[in-house]
Amino acid sequence: MKITVIGAGAVGSTTADNIARANFAEEVILLDIKEGVAEGKAQDMMQTAALLGFDTKIKGVTNDYAQTANSTVAVITSGIPRKPGMTREELIGTNANIVKSVVENLVKYSPDVIIIVVSNPMDTMTYLALKASGLPKNRIIGMGGALDSSRFKYQIATKLNASPSDLNAIVIGGHGDTTMIPLISKATWNSIPVTQFLNIEEQEDIIKKTMVGGATLTALIGTSAWYAPGAATAAMVRSIALNENKLFTASVYLDGEYGESDINIGVPVIINKNGWDKIVPINLTEEEKISFKKSAEAVRAMNNVLRENKNI
Ligand code: NAI
Ligand code: 2OP
Repeated sequence: MKITVIGAGAVGSTTADNIARANFAEEVILLDIKEGVAEGKAQDMMQTAALLGFDTKIKGVTNDYAQTANSTVAVITSGIPRKPGMTREELIGTNANIVKSVVENLVKYSPDVIIIVVSNPMDTMTYLALKASGLPKNRIIGMGGALDSSRFKYQIATKLNASPSDLNAIVIGGHGDTTMIPLISKATWNSIPVTQFLNIEEQEDIIKKTMVGGATLTALIGTSAWYAPGAATAAMVRSIALNENKLFTASVYLDGEYGESDINIGVPVIINKNGWDKIVPINLTEEEKISFKKSAEAVRAMNNVLRENKNI
């Protein structure tokens, strides 16, 4: 099985690294527009194979889409990342042009590909990828909720002094500091509601820290994060490649589900060899329903910028 990762920057190379370490793919093509960067990073990663014990072949290429032909999954990370103080939404102009041309090139060589979009503003870039690709809706998936849910679990685990892998918690809505909705009411610690252990102040603090999780790291590092984004993306690729039927929150096209239409936004879905296979309904509280509606309005406003800029 061939997997393509577009963009050999921080998130793209970390995604390729995580895929290779998990040893389920035959080949990973890492493509970047900057001459030599993908080739160099691929070679560096291949020089860990003997140490880490994987057989996946990682090949770096400079803008050569013929090398991506017949990929089962392609991940798009190309674009500019956030700088401190920037929102994900401020990236739209530059990243829309990049994402659109990348999608067109990918589909030309891999007409049956499943695309995972990472580039920000992710929900809008996923919507653009769907429109630009002409692919069925199930083959276009945005990565944001998988990352935000893992950050949510980290915040809960820190507060409870628990193991993050003992927690079940999801974030729905847009992948933005003000649009994501960490569902504390549904979070459990090995099936026990976490609300049983946390007072309202503690719950609010967890939600707040989760929502600004990306911005906090951007302020500390000077650019946006890559370890957790790369791990989250690779986990989604794996669920497709191995037909694992894992439940992730991901940005998918809604056609009436959750009361919304003509939008890509984060909801729980099953991910398998078909891409996203099924949207999973949740009984949201009235407050959560209002938050979801507001989140969708914000994402839709961002999608309208694509129309104003004639990207779609
Ligand atoms: P980066 O700057 O380290 O890497 C981006 C790479 O894309 C660069 O190597 C650049 O040369 C390449 N690139 C630019 N135009 C290209 C084109 N037309 N074709 C091929 N490659 C091209 O940035 P980083 O940190 O890897 O972030 C990538 C994107 O992912 C950003 O938009 C960032 O905001 C987003 N992001 C999204 C997350 C999410 O949860 N959805 C999480 C983290 C980052
Ligand atoms: C993140 O959440 C900026 O989307 C990026 O880290």
